[in-house]
Amino acid sequence: MSHVFHRSLSSNYPIATGGDGPYLIDADGKRYLDACSGAAVSCLGHSDAAVIAAVQRQVGRMAYAHSAFFSSQPMEELADFLVARAPAGIDSVYFVSGGSEAVESALKMARQYFVERGQPQRRHLIARRQSYHGNTLGALATGGNAWRRQQFEPLLIGVTHVAPCYAWRDQQVHETDGDYVARLGQELEDNIVELGPENVMAFIAEPVVGATAGALPAVADYFRHMRAICQRHGILFILDEVMCGMGRTGSLFACEQEGITADLICIAKGLGAGYQPIGAVMVSKDIRDTIRAGTGFFQHGHTYIGHATACAAALAVQQQIEQRDLLSNVRDMGDLLQQRLRQRFGGHPHVGNIRGRGLFLGLELVRERGSKQAFDPALRLHARIKAQAMQAGLMCYPMGGTIDGLHGDHVLLAPPYIIDASHVEEIVDKLGTAIDTSLA
Ligand SMILES: Cc1ncc(COP(=O)(O)O)c(C=O)c1O
Repeated sequence: MSHVFHRSLSSNYPIATGGDGPYLIDADGKRYLDACSGAAVSCLGHSDAAVIAAVQRQVGRMAYAHSAFFSSQPMEELADFLVARAPAGIDSVYFVSGGSEAVESALKMARQYFVERGQPQRRHLIARRQSYHGNTLGALATGGNAWRRQQFEPLLIGVTHVAPCYAWRDQQVHETDGDYVARLGQELEDNIVELGPENVMAFIAEPVVGATAGALPAVADYFRHMRAICQRHGILFILDEVMCGMGRTGSLFACEQEGITADLICIAKGLGAGYQPIGAVMVSKDIRDTIRAGTGFFQHGHTYIGHATACAAALAVQQQIEQRDLLSNVRDMGDLLQQRLRQRFGGHPHVGNIRGRGLFLGLELVRERGSKQAFDPALRLHARIKAQAMQAGLMCYPMGGTIDGLHGDHVLLAPPYIIDASHVEEIVDKLGTAIDTSLA
């Protein structure tokens, strides 16, 4: 019996022993096509020689220096690289070790910003239902996914949740996109007014919702409208691009496709592509200038901030993506995968919606297409699909509770940026087998 306190104590996980491009290999030599990059992490696959060499070089030179004593060349270079490509107004980067830490840091930075500006009453946070922002208590409180929150509810800070932009289910038949956006904007506005605009600190959202809603993009102009409302009330706009950022949707930052920027942008997963654990908060000039001119010290911190080896890995990952123009491949293979999914599942009686951007795609499963009725959650269809896919040698990321945290099932696909057309065929073929076998 294993002495590891595994994620699931009732599962028998195969032992991963090797990686080969977009495949993981287990101790028995079985190969799994990683069609979800774990959890949208391994965007360069599992054997990138340039990144491996960069990690080895950095460990050999200087693995780690605590950020309270030193900066490091990899950290400085990575910050320069990211800021040079960042949305307007962003001019510094606060490095952490993962997505939850990035969100926690962004929330605390937003709070300190207002304290330093002499607006200490600004403390309320508005987020969206069906979002996921991480599992630490602050990030969990921010997320709006019912089942993840449920048992920890007594420990969570109060956060106001508004509706996500989930057009396929929530847009009324008589509503244009513009009407729908106006309705969602009005809900945000009403909540701001109820809390008192002078008391609201920040609004946070994932530009394309990942784990909890299955690659769900917003309709046109939704984000522009929400940002304008926040700006009008002096409320900070935080984007959680932990899953959808770093090229996953076909542009380095997902918000580029919305035509907006933000005050704080959280990134992780594809930043280090799994070669090292790393996350970051991209920070606006205004926020940094305010804190610098005030106490000059962000009252936060973790031991591994700006870990030199993690930064060297992330810099190599980002250079590989750029030098090999992998975002073109994300767009091309994303289009092809979406097209092949539509051919294979467009008429499937239990696939209600196929959506997403770039190599970040989701299929929402339904019991009945006409009514969009979901399967009984007790069937745990998503877990069956995951098990069947693993059996077939395919990793995908199915999840339940798509609609309200309890009902609904989806499958999230987020393959590495290096896949080719043959991998697309393998994904569609094996996913078809997994879904059909699970429903049989
Ligand atoms: C949008 C989003 N935010 C935050 C997180 C938390 O990141 P981590 O698991 O690295 O703490 C995740 C993880 O899935 C995520 O998808």
